[in-house]
Amino acid sequence: MAERRGCPLPKDVEEWFSGLGEEFLRSINVEAGHSVLDFGCRIGNYSVPAARVVGFTGKVYALDMNHEAVDELVARANALGLGNIIVPIKTRGELIIDLPDKSVDVVLLYDVIHGILGSAGTLDPFRQLLEEIHRVIRSRGIFSLFDKHIEETGFNLGDIVREIENLFSYCGQSTARLMHWDRLEEGTIHTFQKLA
Ligand SMILES: C[S@@+](CC[C@H](N)C(=O)[O-])C[C@H]1O[C@@H](n2cnc3c(N)ncnc32)[C@H](O)[C@@H]1O
Repeated sequence: MAERRGCPLPKDVEEWFSGLGEEFLRSINVEAGHSVLDFGCRIGNYSVPAARVVGFTGKVYALDMNHEAVDELVARANALGLGNIIVPIKTRGELIIDLPDKSVDVVLLYDVIHGILGSAGTLDPFRQLLEEIHRVIRSRGIFSLFDKHIEETGFNLGDIVREIENLFSYCGQSTARLMHWDRLEEGTIHTFQKLA
């Protein structure tokens, strides 16, 4: 993964794809054999390292309404020999997840909340998505949130965490070097667990 669209990757981004991304995903308890849903995957900055961690006994469901980005992710996955692990799900932005109940171990919702809520002034779309995420996660599975751009929605992190705590138990936050868009920077991750 030394280039994107024929251009060499910046050194830190190359570092992400040469082990740092996998190390981070293991730190939030992604394991070999897991099924991971990357909701709002874009070009797979998390799906690709997740596929390397879960391996051939696992699956990464890479869901996005941006079909061009999903196509780029699929090309990336195929070039890296990860095509059998990453399952693309192209949507029209609906907040319904086409996966069975209790079928995934980990859901990543990274840098997506502002896209779900916009500036509509209501948490209702997020509540709908949370119910779907809760439905597809198995008992004791992990819901992991990268809280970028929440302020643009008119809500704050406390509002979002309180909403999630109606369905999940809050395990805490951690900081790490993370991919944000196509740059590596320090970010905060919030981890929740489904208890029932
Ligand atoms: C800023 S990108 C983050 C990509 C990736 N999660 C990451 O952290 O690198 C946000 C992505 O979420 C997608 N997205 C936003 N709302 C969505 C929805 N309702 N359904 C599916 N995808 C959505 C966008 O199309 C976009 O690709």
